[in-house]
Amino acid sequence: MHVKDHTFLITGAASGLGAATAERLVAAGGRVVLCDLSEAVEAHAERLGDAARAVRGDVTSGDDIQAAVDAAVALGGERGLAGVVHCAGVVSVAKLVDREGNPADLEAYNRTIQINLVGTFNVMRLAAAAMAKNAPGEDGERGVIINTASIAAMDGQVGQCAYSASKAGVVGMSLPAARELSRHGVRVMAIAPGVFETPMMSEIPDEAAQALAAAVPFPKRLGRPDEYARLAEQIITNPMLNGEVIRLDGGIRMQ
Ligand SMILES: NC(=O)c1ccc[n+]([C@@H]2O[C@H](COP(=O)([O-])OP(=O)(O)OC[C@H]3O[C@@H](n4cnc5c(N)ncnc54)[C@H](O)[C@@H]3O)[C@@H](O)[C@H]2O)c1
Repeated sequence: MHVKDHTFLITGAASGLGAATAERLVAAGGRVVLCDLSEAVEAHAERLGDAARAVRGDVTSGDDIQAAVDAAVALGGERGLAGVVHCAGVVSVAKLVDREGNPADLEAYNRTIQINLVGTFNVMRLAAAAMAKNAPGEDGERGVIINTASIAAMDGQVGQCAYSASKAGVVGMSLPAARELSRHGVRVMAIAPGVFETPMMSEIPDEAAQALAAAVPFPKRLGRPDEYARLAEQIITNPMLNGEVIRLDGGIRMQ
């Protein structure tokens, strides 16, 4: 799939990895619909110019994501929606039993699963239904879906039961979704980032961020959002990448 003159839906596009992906795809000649809960998505779309549109929406809502998919299909014209880079997500930390002996809050657990896991399924199902209607390109390709997992799916830390489970679910869906959508010519991939410099990570104290950077074998720093965007662009343009989860983490393996 080429980026140039094709249209992509990017969720979580107001910030961090999604915002960087939108920038990169526009720089490569693509068109983008930026979807995010945050109103900051509108200013980002404006910065990117005529090739970008913003749709405020919640990835857990069928109506919101259908509206974002419809906007991308309309922007894509005859070519329709060529791909999705799904970056919307939340991080959460909660122990099963806290210091005072209280059990974790079930609502908070459900919220993380709803946004990160159910939201991913919601975006995949609506985007795939639209892409299945595209005219086939080279090799019969009609579209590509890139989900965002995390190394926490494999190397979860204390307090990450909800976050790790949600991301492990994203990993687990990659192969069955790729197998199913192969008959429509739609590929499904996931990127599992290590630790990236985004607003999500800015919530952790400086000292902890420095320790994380030092734990990366090479390069000894946090990832940059454009490094995620570069991998997303490669996945879009390389038709042999399918049904796989790629760690993008400088070799870090959490204890
Ligand atoms: N930054 C990291 O180190 C890191 C590491 C591994 C995985 N990830 C994953 O990468 C993805 C992007 O993270 P980021 O670091 O860019 O974070 P970020 O906080 O900078 O951006 C996430 C965006 O998602 C949006 N969002 C949250 N809930 C939403 C919802 N229900 N509907 C629509 N939009 C919603 C937020 O408004 C925000 O703009 C997330 O799925 C995150 O779990 C990040």
